[in-house]
Amino acid sequence: MRSPIPDYLTETLGDIASDTSGAPADYIPELATADPERLGAAFAMVDGAVYGAGDVNIEFTIQSISKPFAYALALADRGFDPVLAKVGVEPSGEAFNEISLEGGSGRPLNPMINAGAITTHSLAGPVGLDAAERLQRVVDGLSAFAGRRLTVDESVCASEMEHAHRNLAIAHMLRSYGVLTEDPATVVEGYTRQCSLLVTTLDLAVMAATLANHGVNPLSGERVVPEPVVRQVLSVMSTCGMYDAAGDWATQVGIPAKSGVAGGLIGALPGQLGIATFSPRLDAHGNSVRGVGLFGRFSSDMGLHVMEVPAAGRAVVRSNHVAGAGPDAVRVIELQGGIRFAGAERVVREVTDTAPTENRVALDLTMVYSIDDVGRRMLLEIVRRLTLDGHQVALIDPEGILPVPEVSPESR
Ligand code: DON
Repeated sequence: MRSPIPDYLTETLGDIASDTSGAPADYIPELATADPERLGAAFAMVDGAVYGAGDVNIEFTIQSISKPFAYALALADRGFDPVLAKVGVEPSGEAFNEISLEGGSGRPLNPMINAGAITTHSLAGPVGLDAAERLQRVVDGLSAFAGRRLTVDESVCASEMEHAHRNLAIAHMLRSYGVLTEDPATVVEGYTRQCSLLVTTLDLAVMAATLANHGVNPLSGERVVPEPVVRQVLSVMSTCGMYDAAGDWATQVGIPAKSGVAGGLIGALPGQLGIATFSPRLDAHGNSVRGVGLFGRFSSDMGLHVMEVPAAGRAVVRSNHVAGAGPDAVRVIELQGGIRFAGAERVVREVTDTAPTENRVALDLTMVYSIDDVGRRMLLEIVRRLTLDGHQVALIDPEGILPVPEVSPESR
């Protein structure tokens, strides 16, 4: 059978292609030369399957899509507190290049606007790196997200540097508040090189899938950043990633996202997939017109809104039956799927409602593919309490997702 997914992508690109509104960015002259008809879309699943349609192998500069990834590197390299002390997490409701900082502290409001991203660039890598070493850390880190070595488009970079007055003004303000502690022009140059890294739509889908996959690149298997960092980055993407269009985006599309002025757009849906689109014509917010349209379609056609989540607990108990008879009878409770709090609560209720009369009870986890920490602790508590009630409890756990509990006599 031929997979329907590439066909769906091709069909959706065809539906959106007639929208020729907007225009390529021209404040960086080199970007104005982009072919406005380019159009591509890709899905990268968290298990590494990748689908694409249209111009998915054309390179363009990553621009602001680099911001969440550089933020992830800063958080991973420096820790949360030093980064949060310098860059906030509040939506600004303003344009990406607004010259505005938090009153008093001079802290940029968030890492997705230029003020925050310029600061974040300065925080990548361990303390003490020089500008070249820090840029190398950013290039290496973004390459690890993509799973291939990325390079800078020197002509786009030079073109942006010739017109970087606004970013230089922002950086000088940051320096005056002590948020930046070094030469503003050097930091802006590093940030501009970061924005000038060349990527394809397929690269961006894999980078987004690395976020969706809790920080592990699904193709290379490399852990690029720790899980708590990914949670922070996705949260900020969902509130600030689309600048002054963030509220419309959150309600209508509902996928943590980030756009770039070269026409790229990414979305990362935790546990499912990374999505990327490419089309250079931009709307008034600096977001790709056809990219926004494609994400609207993907979200509604595929039910991808992050707030639309299936009931987590309902199907966790696969069966509850007695095997054997007489004194050998065993109460078997078969579980399945992924278990989090609501699923574990459902298992607690199953066991308490059943009130097993059999001496032997088995919890069968053969069909369970994941369990988070709270789910694990709650299942172990069920085992402990059943044991204390005098049952012999067996865990059927061939994949070893639960550690074997120890019930010490003192805990009785
Ligand atoms: O700072 C700039 O102006 C660019 N290098 C990046 C801006 C950008 O991509 C904004 N996003 N839509």
